[in-house]
Amino acid sequence: MCGIVGYIGTQAATDILISGLERLEYRGYDSAGIATVEEGQVNCVKAKGKLFNLREKLEHTINHAQIGIGHTRWATHGKPEEHNAHPHLNTDRRLAVVQNGIIENYLELKEELISKKIEFRSETDTEVIPHLITQFLTDSNSLMTAIQKTIARLEGAFAIAVVHADNPYELIVARQQAPLVLGFGQGEFFCASDMTAILPHTRTILNLENGEIARLTPLGVEIYDFEGARMSRFPRTLDWNPVQVEKQGFRHYMLKEIYEQPAVVRTCLDTYINPNWHADENPDYSPVNLGLTPNLTDNLEHIQVLACGTSWHAALIGKYLLEQVAGIPTTVDYASEFRYSPKPIISNTLTIGVTQSGETADTIAALESERARRADLEPKFQAKLLAITNRAESSIAQICDRIIDTHAGIEIGVAATKTFVAQTMGFYFLSLDLAYRRQSVPNYKIGEIIAGLRHIPSQIETILDTQADAIEELAHDFTTEIEDFIFIGRGINFPIALEGALKLKEISYIHAEAYPAGEMKHGPIALLDNKVPVVAVAMPGSVYDKVISNAQEAKARDARLIGVTTAMNATEAAHTFDDILTVPEVDELISPILAVVPLQMLSYHIAAIKGLDVDQPRNLAKSVTVE
Ligand code: AGP
Repeated sequence: MCGIVGYIGTQAATDILISGLERLEYRGYDSAGIATVEEGQVNCVKAKGKLFNLREKLEHTINHAQIGIGHTRWATHGKPEEHNAHPHLNTDRRLAVVQNGIIENYLELKEELISKKIEFRSETDTEVIPHLITQFLTDSNSLMTAIQKTIARLEGAFAIAVVHADNPYELIVARQQAPLVLGFGQGEFFCASDMTAILPHTRTILNLENGEIARLTPLGVEIYDFEGARMSRFPRTLDWNPVQVEKQGFRHYMLKEIYEQPAVVRTCLDTYINPNWHADENPDYSPVNLGLTPNLTDNLEHIQVLACGTSWHAALIGKYLLEQVAGIPTTVDYASEFRYSPKPIISNTLTIGVTQSGETADTIAALESERARRADLEPKFQAKLLAITNRAESSIAQICDRIIDTHAGIEIGVAATKTFVAQTMGFYFLSLDLAYRRQSVPNYKIGEIIAGLRHIPSQIETILDTQADAIEELAHDFTTEIEDFIFIGRGINFPIALEGALKLKEISYIHAEAYPAGEMKHGPIALLDNKVPVVAVAMPGSVYDKVISNAQEAKARDARLIGVTTAMNATEAAHTFDDILTVPEVDELISPILAVVPLQMLSYHIAAIKGLDVDQPRNLAKSVTVE
């Protein structure tokens, strides 16, 4: 977590750093700070809380510095107080460091430095870095050498940026398993945890790799490995447009991203579905162009999916599809659990990591450990790693054999919406590709599923056009007094109940739990009374009647019942539910992508009416790069 940004060039650094931090604030917002170098001094300003506090502090200062670093923090070591905010300085305040990640051996290093009479000003792990660099600077005049020697002492995953008052033309950055991207302008260079921070200035970027250190000067960028060997790397030009990271008239990014979902699904369909494939022509090629090579897809006996949070929910839908459509036994694990209790090794296993950011530490570590534990085994046990991610240039893309790029465009709201839908599309495509290759279902069935997917964009538009006002009105009923919600669903829509509950929790701070509808009677039903609304995802299909029965059981306990369903069974639904969130008619197999939309909207409106910070909910960060 945390966001770091750096600038060296000919413009005033402060404005560039602050606007960069604004775009990184989704990574953490417990405190923010910047350090610039001017007239032989480091000028460091920090503030607790969100960025506007720092802005306020800077309002009446004049600063012409052309080099600086900035940080927005998600607290790990030390409370979210100003003294723990980055940048951290050395004793004589001439060297400043920002860090994203965790220095795992900081206590040992801190004790060593304290024994040398160094005084610490914070409780952070990061503060050891400026003090260590200073120690090594006494042996050598080179800031680069001192940083290299410091890095050799650090354990953990981190990205750092360093400036020194004596080196006004040098910004040094390093990366070890935490993201860091460099930006190339005309006589100016940037670094940031995420390219969104530098997109307004340049689209020429280079991802620093693990174990690399870069020296940015007004004349250019030099990259070395941690041992000091010069690396030859080439930047690339992004086709991203800075407008994509604006709110474009929407009150919140989350709302904008909900409304982008039809376009996202269209892009996914255009990218991956082969338009010439027709089931009745017995085509000898797959309906889906995922570019998967036979070594990843042939003879699969097992698929295991590793993910966190919303991505884990998409994985659960994926499991349903991979088993029911492609016929492959599939397991889904939380990446954070899998790391420390990996499953027995099965031959011919495809391991899929799902992560919109591509930087989630647990997911990356789980995949790396899977590669490592299979490395010395015979070929059929070797790891085959596939990522479903929204960031083709991310860390996960670098460790996997292949990625499915979800093409959702950048998602700024901390609550995932359009990336969830895009990940789910990724699982439809993978299931269809594997189903075709294995002929696990007839081609006409594959054709029917594709036809259903093609309707999704306009069907989401229908929900947004016809339901938005009703959902907003309904949301008013839950903004006071209600403290708990229950979500129920079954089969392919149980993950939608989970996702509905997570969205509500993370942005409205209302406690919400999700259960498979049939499990309510085994305990959770005891929670129900007229103060606990129940949301039932009741999409027509194989378990519709069962869900309706389970919903009736909840109603009998006085719960207010909200149903997500189609108009097909309007009479029965009206008889069962107090409130109905209607979605268009859809085949059960495709229904999750529609069912999630009203739940996203309901959570959004509850949080917005409560006046909460929808895009940056408390305690969270968009990219969870710590364990
Ligand atoms: C989603 O709304 C959450 N903010 C969170 O659960 C998220 O899905 C999780 O942290 C995983 O992120 P990733 O997809 O970037 O790996």
